[in-house]
Amino acid sequence: MTGPSDKAAWQDLLRLSGDMRRQGLRIDSLFSSDPHRFRHFSCRLDGLLLDYSKQLITTEAFASLIQLAEQCYLPAAIDAMFAGEAINVTEQRAAMHVALRAPTGDRSNGEVEKVLDHMSAFVASVHDGSWTGYSGQAIRDVVNIGIGGSDLGPAMVTEALADCHLDGLRVHFVSNVDPVHLQDTLNALQPATTLFIVASKSFSTLETLQNAQEARRWLLQAGLEEADIAKHFVANTVNTEAAVAFGIAAENLFPMWDWVGGRFSLWSAIGLPIALAIGMDNFRRLLAGAHHIDEHFRSADLEHNLPVIMALLTIWNTGFFGCHSTAIVPYSQRLQLLPAYLQQLYMESLGKRITLDGDAVATNTGEVLWGSAGTNGQHSYFQLLHQGSQTIPAEFIAFAKPPAEPHAESHTHLLANCFSQSLALMAGDRDAPSPHRHIPGNKPSSTLLLSQLDPFKLGSLLALYEHKVYAQSVIWHINAFDQWGVELGKQLSSQVAEALGDNEGAAEFDTSTAGLIRFVKEWTR
Ligand code: F6P
Repeated sequence: MTGPSDKAAWQDLLRLSGDMRRQGLRIDSLFSSDPHRFRHFSCRLDGLLLDYSKQLITTEAFASLIQLAEQCYLPAAIDAMFAGEAINVTEQRAAMHVALRAPTGDRSNGEVEKVLDHMSAFVASVHDGSWTGYSGQAIRDVVNIGIGGSDLGPAMVTEALADCHLDGLRVHFVSNVDPVHLQDTLNALQPATTLFIVASKSFSTLETLQNAQEARRWLLQAGLEEADIAKHFVANTVNTEAAVAFGIAAENLFPMWDWVGGRFSLWSAIGLPIALAIGMDNFRRLLAGAHHIDEHFRSADLEHNLPVIMALLTIWNTGFFGCHSTAIVPYSQRLQLLPAYLQQLYMESLGKRITLDGDAVATNTGEVLWGSAGTNGQHSYFQLLHQGSQTIPAEFIAFAKPPAEPHAESHTHLLANCFSQSLALMAGDRDAPSPHRHIPGNKPSSTLLLSQLDPFKLGSLLALYEHKVYAQSVIWHINAFDQWGVELGKQLSSQVAEALGDNEGAAEFDTSTAGLIRFVKEWTR
């Protein structure tokens, strides 16, 4: 199998996009020529609506994109993922995050249910006070120590669902090996009532292990004995042996599996801090929302398949209009961490330049993804979206209902800003009196409108993006589930740490790296 540019549909799309450019086709003119454009270019699934009518897309181009997906065997690739085939070819593993959110009766894997039951019992014991620290006091603060997929998803979901938080427990997240991250968090906490979760699929990530050791020292300095430590630590990991060697009691380990990728792992025991914050019933609602989209992705025809449509629009913009980045703008303060979470999901998954067959890709692949919560972004980078020299497609996310009724008026302004930005990007202002005030418009965007922000809807939203990423990887013919580039950085950092530590026999580096190391030594002598 080859990449997408060899397919007949790719050639059709090249011709269509070329014609559109030559004719100077505008998105707003597509609305004038089709009074039902919104109906034709939107797709609804219960309380979730994808409006892609403000993309520069025609019926013909959309049909060719669907053909491209077929010619790239996307339906078979979706089946392969759900069947648990080893679609992560470079590591010979399945990518079965969908199995983590299948309803109890449908689970083929009994281990998943066992871990969920363990999580339920643990969450209950922390909340009812039967889990106690060394001094017999109940736990008041939980600190999740993890990074990348073991931090971004849980931290984002925990913040997003702040309105569902249970009383009596605060959940904190520490990821950075910069010591101030842990220190600033611990400054406000009491050792006797603090519990640490060491979240690491591999249990070998330097930042996480270093922070876990520092946390342990903090407890020991507060007067705990070695024997007390186990009462303040649990871990979620594949590498249970390493966690036990660290000092975590075997009964306080929440296993996960190789077939769950780090950036797809918030549905596994890595979601433990979420479950502690919102309770197990809500955590199961989050899983159910994701499962709802899994079923849709698996069964809907390509034309009406939300993640597939989202993926094809990105393929269109990057492949045929030279777009290299996408702005993600959730009009929701609660979702302010969503862009950071999606950055890992997209860029670790799609930042690849070699096809599944080991050849160089012939098309643009993973685009840069960035963004922040609206309306704040409007007062920083939106100027570039409106009048900059590049076209950057935007993806807006909004919720119809306000989080709480008393705030309905502010919420109306929030939505009004969201919708007016996509309108302004499309229409621009071409009658302006001076070139400086001329706003060209014709900037593509999609809007995902959800009825409300709750655990079920959030689960659905995140699963949409996971499947969008997979669909893009299938069409680009790359592996979405490995991250060899990141592994290289991890290895090199231990060698540089050795050199910074003055160790005999440390590796020698290029003059830049050696020079930086020399200055650190000089300035810290
Ligand atoms: O950032 C690289 C990475 O390997 C991610 O894929 C992963 O989510 C993160 O490190 C953390 O890894 P672990 O959970 O094994 O500590």
